[in-house]
Amino acid sequence: MSDTPELTPAEPRRVVVGVAGSIAAYKAPFVIRALREAGHEVKTVPTEAALRFIGAPALAAVSGAPVSSGVFDDPAAVEHVAVGEWAELVVVAPASADLLARVAAGRADDLLTATILTTTAPVMLAPAMHTQMWLNPATQENVATLRRRGLTVLTPDSGRLTGKDSGVGRLPEPDRIVTEALALLESSDVEGRSNGLEGRRVVVSAGGTREPIDPVRFLGNRSSGRQGCAIARAAAVRGARVTLAAAHVDASILARLPASVEVIPVNTALELNDVVRHLCTDADAVVMAAAVADYRPATVSAAKIKKHGLEDDETGPVPPPVITLVENPDILAGLVSDPPRGEDGRTLVVGFAAETGDEDGDVLSHGVAKAWRKGADLLAVNAVGPALGFGDVPNAVVVLDAQGREVARASGSKDDVARALVDLIAERLENN
Ligand code: CTP
Repeated sequence: MSDTPELTPAEPRRVVVGVAGSIAAYKAPFVIRALREAGHEVKTVPTEAALRFIGAPALAAVSGAPVSSGVFDDPAAVEHVAVGEWAELVVVAPASADLLARVAAGRADDLLTATILTTTAPVMLAPAMHTQMWLNPATQENVATLRRRGLTVLTPDSGRLTGKDSGVGRLPEPDRIVTEALALLESSDVEGRSNGLEGRRVVVSAGGTREPIDPVRFLGNRSSGRQGCAIARAAAVRGARVTLAAAHVDASILARLPASVEVIPVNTALELNDVVRHLCTDADAVVMAAAVADYRPATVSAAKIKKHGLEDDETGPVPPPVITLVENPDILAGLVSDPPRGEDGRTLVVGFAAETGDEDGDVLSHGVAKAWRKGADLLAVNAVGPALGFGDVPNAVVVLDAQGREVARASGSKDDVARALVDLIAERLENN
């Protein structure tokens, strides 16, 4: 069992974080810290104006390296060229209106703009400014110029600004900046590799279905949708056209998806079945990461079910209501036994097996039985429990083929597991 390959997380990369003069400069350390926590090396380059809002010692401490901002700070190191050459990604957070203008004009009057002018790495700018400055035609034209040249300019958030006013212009949340930055890194990482997913269509389900009992109650489960969203993201980063069927996934988790991922919200297992089967009529691969309720209430009460026990009569309390369940379709098994694409090519079917293990067998033996039962091309078996599998916790999976043979193992964050699974999917699609 242990001689199957352990799929590895992403390699550490070299990231320059530029910081421009904006009150939002105080958020730059969150971006720097998250990039370092993701395993990457960070060099921070503030502008002179940025250093009026946040001190160089704070930036140096959080970066784990000294910071410089002028081209004459260390002339012997020829930093105005060296930093750009060193970078595998440049992220500017926050990018002020002035910084956008200087980059659009091709200026190189400080270390940050010189770095952006010399680098061949992808550049991402996260703007922060007052609404009037963002909406001014000068800024909008600068943004259009930068985007046309291939730089990524995030759209700022709307909300409370520095003064009492609010509107568009807030720095995007550091989480979103880091997600987009990591996606850029990953897409440049897979460039030139033969197992990309360009031109492929991938369907992913995520979250947990809810089966209504009455207008206010449902049968549900604890799936957050994080693993499914991570898979959707990893597939999109590799160039696939991705549609995500999202069953009750929190908006904060969906916000981490690249804008190119189409999201279709679903509620029940029956709805999910219809949506997934429809999407699979032209899908190259489908990943069923959603936790689907195996049963649903046979009838859904149109009115809220009342607590009859309160209405005791002489015969004593009325017993609690009994909810009769009927079986839901097994969506995954149906995709294998009755493929929506028919004879028109084959959709690679990937499932998950969430197991706790019990007196009948351990996690893996239940997974092997499930692989035979469902017939999916790949089945990622993971242990679930109070501190495992669900929510914002690391994950570890053993991937089995349709005969229950171990194909690979992957562990780490949900993003690491997602990348490893998407690697396997890309490899399978290429070899078929
Ligand atoms: N699944 C599905 N339709 C269902 C139940 C599950 O498509 N009605 C899919 C899940 O999305 C997952 C895989 O089947 O990819 C396994 O789900 P899991 O909950 O582990 O297994 P179950 O089939 O529900 O079996 P059991 O509850 O007995 O473990």
